[in-house]
Amino acid sequence: MFNVLDLFAGVGGTALGIQRFLNEQNIDFYYTAVENDFEITWSHSLLNPDDSIITQEDAWEYPIFGHDFIWASPPCQSHSRCNMYYNKKNPDMRLWDLIRKLQQQDTPFVVENVQPYYTPPINPSLKIGRHYFWSNKPIISFKVPERAKDWGWMGIPDWEKYHGIESRVTDHIKDRMKRRQVLRNMLHPDISYNIIKQILNPKQKQLEVA
Ligand SMILES: C[S@@+](CC[C@H](N)C(=O)[O-])C[C@H]1O[C@@H](n2cnc3c(N)ncnc32)[C@H](O)[C@@H]1O
Repeated sequence: MFNVLDLFAGVGGTALGIQRFLNEQNIDFYYTAVENDFEITWSHSLLNPDDSIITQEDAWEYPIFGHDFIWASPPCQSHSRCNMYYNKKNPDMRLWDLIRKLQQQDTPFVVENVQPYYTPPINPSLKIGRHYFWSNKPIISFKVPERAKDWGWMGIPDWEKYHGIESRVTDHIKDRMKRRQVLRNMLHPDISYNIIKQILNPKQKQLEVA
């Protein structure tokens, strides 16, 4: 049984991509999603019914041992350029502690975040658009689906279409600002699909290069 830990699991674009690959390869998996917002865990469970556990614990404190693959997408707000211009919060340095902790163990991992507005203390393994990825396995660039509109102009239906998900996944989130935000935060499933494919199936890597 292949044991996956998905920290800061969100609505679950990451989970969709990883599970798509594992299903294609007929790999039995045990999938643990850690997400601390109730409405978002609900969306996650609608989108990813094959998860084994969705737990509302604090992902910063969740044990990282005993898994075969770990993905983490910590909140990006405090690292983004928007924060530098508008909110001016200090960056949440737990991002860097988490990457260091994951680097000290052998389990393959990927941490995803935005390009920070400051020089990152740990160089990313891969940059794709505004996404930065850190990993202990080599990963190379690939094409990411393009959005129909500029990021700031994407509304709820645009994000649903982009990610290929139905409205019912998030329509219980009545606060429309929050609903749009969780869809913006969602990783396009093709991204985690391509990355797990490279990590578990490195011979096919060359075929995927853009
Ligand atoms: C960038 S989003 C993740 C997106 C996800 N990879 C996807 O594809 O949908 C980060 C998520 O972390 C959650 N979160 C923030 N702090 C958390 C914490 N301490 N423990 C667990 N989840 C947390 C947020 O609610 C948010 O849904």
